[in-house]
Amino acid sequence: MDKLDKAFKIALEARENAYAPYSEFKVGAALAVKNSDKIFPGCNVENASYGGTICAERTAIVSVIAALGKVEFEFCVVVTGSEPASPPCALCLQVFSEFCPPDFPIYLASPKGIEKKMLLKELLPVPFNEIPE
Ligand code: THU
Repeated sequence: MDKLDKAFKIALEARENAYAPYSEFKVGAALAVKNSDKIFPGCNVENASYGGTICAERTAIVSVIAALGKVEFEFCVVVTGSEPASPPCALCLQVFSEFCPPDFPIYLASPKGIEKKMLLKELLPVPFNEIPE
């Protein structure tokens, strides 16, 4: 199984662990580490105080950093239940932009499989801190 297939499987499994009793919108993510076979899972974890909710993508990002420190990320797979597959929210994209180059690949997936590859710069052309021309 190649790394992308493996990441999709990890994201799908992580989605099963999502804690989403308020929105009932489960999200799974898998973040692949560059020059390594490591892939970290993430899922959304909601809270009765809604603002305490953390998205699947940011869960994966902070897990990698907690385990390995600041390393290079290779790509991310995000699995949602929506059709077509949903992209990450702007808050997560901003956090990606802290650690990833503009051509960082984000694969949008449904539980059936990967639907679309997009680059961070397509989803968030102008991150905060980057002054547009
Ligand atoms: N959510 C994510 O996990 N990732 C995103 O990029 C957008 C939204 C979660 C947050 C909340 O638990 C649920 O989806 C509905 O917004």
